[in-house]
Order: sequence, then C-alpha cells, then structure tokens
Amino acid sequence: MDFDFSWHFESRSAAQTECLGAALGARLQAGDLICLQGDLGAGKTVFCRGIGAGFGALPPLTSPTYNLVHEHRRAQDTTLLHHIDLYRIQRPEDAESLGIYDILDSAGVVLIEWAQRLAGELPPQYLRIRCEHRDASRRGLNFAARGKRYVTRLQELAAVAYVIGD
Ligand SMILES: Nc1ncnc2c1ncn2[C@@H]1O[C@H](COP(=O)(O)OP(=O)(O)OP(=O)(O)O)[C@@H](O)[C@H]1O
Ligand SMILES: [Mg+2]
Repeated sequence: MDFDFSWHFESRSAAQTECLGAALGARLQAGDLICLQGDLGAGKTVFCRGIGAGFGALPPLTSPTYNLVHEHRRAQDTTLLHHIDLYRIQRPEDAESLGIYDILDSAGVVLIEWAQRLAGELPPQYLRIRCEHRDASRRGLNFAARGKRYVTRLQELAAVAYVIGD
C-alpha cells in the first residue's frame, strides 16, 4: 500500500529513540493514530515511552504487554492517550473484544504496538513506524505517513530530528 511521505532515522541508543519519540509526542493531536511494527525488542515501547513523555502522559508509559490497553491523561487538557499492545492477539477479530475499534473511533491519541496484527482493519490514514534491530545499541526507524495530517507530523519531526543528541 502506498504512503504519502516517508522518512528514516538510524538510532544509536535507546535514549535517542526515546528522545525522537518525545519530539513526536509533543506534536500529537487528538485523533492521531500511530502504528508501530517490529520484532520483539526492536524498540517500539522505548519509542512509545518517549511519545508519552513528550505528550505529557500521566502516569508515564510502561509496556502494556499484559494489560494490552493502557489509558493515560495529561495535565494541560482532556486529550487521552491510549497505548495498546496487540502482540497477544491471534486475529483482528480479537481486537473487537478488547474495545480497540471503539478506541479508534474515540477522539484520543492512539499508539498501537504490533499494529500488523490488525492487518486490513486499520483506518485508512495513520503514521506507521517500523522498528528494525541492527545490533545491541542500533535500531533503524522507518516512518511512513498516509494522510495529510500525518505527513505534517512527520515533516515536522524530520525537521527537528537534527537536534537529537547521543
Ligand atoms: N537504539 C535503540 N533504540 C531502542 N531501544 C534500544 C536501542 N538500543 C538498545 N535498545 C534496547 O532494546 C530494547 C527495546 O525494547 P522495547 O521494549 O522497546 O522493544 P519492543 O519493540 O517494544 O518489544 P516487544 O514487542 O517485546 O514489546 C530495550 O531494552 C532498549 O534498552
Ligand atoms: Mg513493546
């Protein structure tokens, strides 16, 4: 499937990945959907933790592997951030019982780890982030935006990424 804009970042540390996530999290707006893909340990949760920090999530993000869905608020407004991990679901239908589709219809910001589990059930527009394991400390982060609002987010992120230190 085609994307409207893509961008790539080679991360040299977990701190860099988290920092980049924070830069994105600070720019997210109600209704934004971020879909993360990549193998176990690829860095999806580290990136999400950064998004949470930049968004101002309360409490701070942790891995939702066991609860599958975590909801966070923030101090400055009523926007909710939903952090979802679909590693354990077998079929897109299982997402129904978890209320994933209701969350996607809500006005919150939504982060989905293992979003590939939803296959063709995702909304047409979102920001996809594919994390690739390179070695102990390096990860490739492939960003692809489908839809105007996500092109804007991604172009803004790419424009500020040069300030990310080690
Ligand atoms: N450049 C890097 N970016 C992100 N994480 C890194 C990097 N280098 C090393 N790491 C380490 O890799 C691990 C990534 O774990 P993380 O929980 O984010 O993976 P994940 O993709 O969410 O996996 P899972 O699917 O099991 O939840 C962490 O232990 C982190 O410290
Ligand atoms: Mg994870």
